[in-house]
Amino acid sequence: MTTDTNQEKKKEQKKSRTKPYIPNLAEFYFKPTYDWSREDAKRLYSTTKSPSSKFELDSIRFEDCVMGMKQLPDESIDLVIADPPFGIAFDGKSSVYNRDERLVIEGYEETSESYHKFTTRWLAELPRIMKPESSAYVFSGWTNLDDILQGARDAGLATLNHLIWHYPFGVYTKKRFVTSHYHIMLLVKNPRKYFFNKIENYPEDVWSVKRQYRTGLAKNATKLPLEVVSRCIDFSSKPGDIVLDPFMGNGTTAVAAKLNFRRFIGFEINEKLRPLLDNEIDAAISGESYIPYSERLATIEELAKIYPKAYREYIRREKEI
Ligand SMILES: C[S@@+](CC[C@H](N)C(=O)[O-])C[C@H]1O[C@@H](n2cnc3c(N)ncnc32)[C@H](O)[C@@H]1O
Repeated sequence: MTTDTNQEKKKEQKKSRTKPYIPNLAEFYFKPTYDWSREDAKRLYSTTKSPSSKFELDSIRFEDCVMGMKQLPDESIDLVIADPPFGIAFDGKSSVYNRDERLVIEGYEETSESYHKFTTRWLAELPRIMKPESSAYVFSGWTNLDDILQGARDAGLATLNHLIWHYPFGVYTKKRFVTSHYHIMLLVKNPRKYFFNKIENYPEDVWSVKRQYRTGLAKNATKLPLEVVSRCIDFSSKPGDIVLDPFMGNGTTAVAAKLNFRRFIGFEINEKLRPLLDNEIDAAISGESYIPYSERLATIEELAKIYPKAYREYIRREKEI
């Protein structure tokens, strides 16, 4: 490098250091870390191979997930999404949940051993089957959080984020606060090297998403919103990746994966859910919800309306270049 170019570079650096901070200006320059066109995403999706001859891609096995995960090969899973049973006396039928009991499918499995033991056992299976850069999103109510955190530590998984899913609805209470949030632990095998696609400039750790109610349709006792599960998939996997859900329930993970050009493998102990799961998954069209990440961002015109001051600065800087 010549002295002239060195001086130019120093001047540039000084100039950028002296530029004032303009709130929200970064929104105008933001680009997702990784992105794929629909064609590329579809190609990746259609070329994924099953990790084992025992496991068909996009299938659910009706068995205990601990037994099932033991059959999975080492480092075969790109992302885990797990919403385990609560381990409290919850059958999803109580009238406080404001649902028609006749539509809740029987057989929702609670744990018979202590919740701590159960949690430790299933979490211990994850590190072996997760690929080195993969992540696990584990859902938990606050009552079981201690066991999940302890189980993750015992399994040697590192907690990257402690997300809160806030839903604007809760069980009516007389003498305490209404619980209207869920915890989602983002766990990784290696906190120095993991896959994370920053698809938003400022992805906060509180997600406000309404709970989904399937009025008039048969359902398992609990169901996560598709939006919450899709966010986990979007931030922590690539098209064609294999997503494992050890506790399939209504199949939200399977549906979200299929709609977004991801593959899935899952376990569910309750055989009675088979027809419901088949219907849900058959009704989902592969890739239907997939939109390249840069196309999901607000346009410059939309941003200009929300952040007029930052927009003026953006235009000024663009002219300078
Ligand atoms: C909280 S629900 C999952 C709901 C799901 N995330 C959804 O959105 O529909 C937990 C599910 O785990 C199942 N389950 C409980 N113990 C299990 C085990 N050992 N192996 C596999 N599935 C199990 C239950 O039958 C139940 O359907």
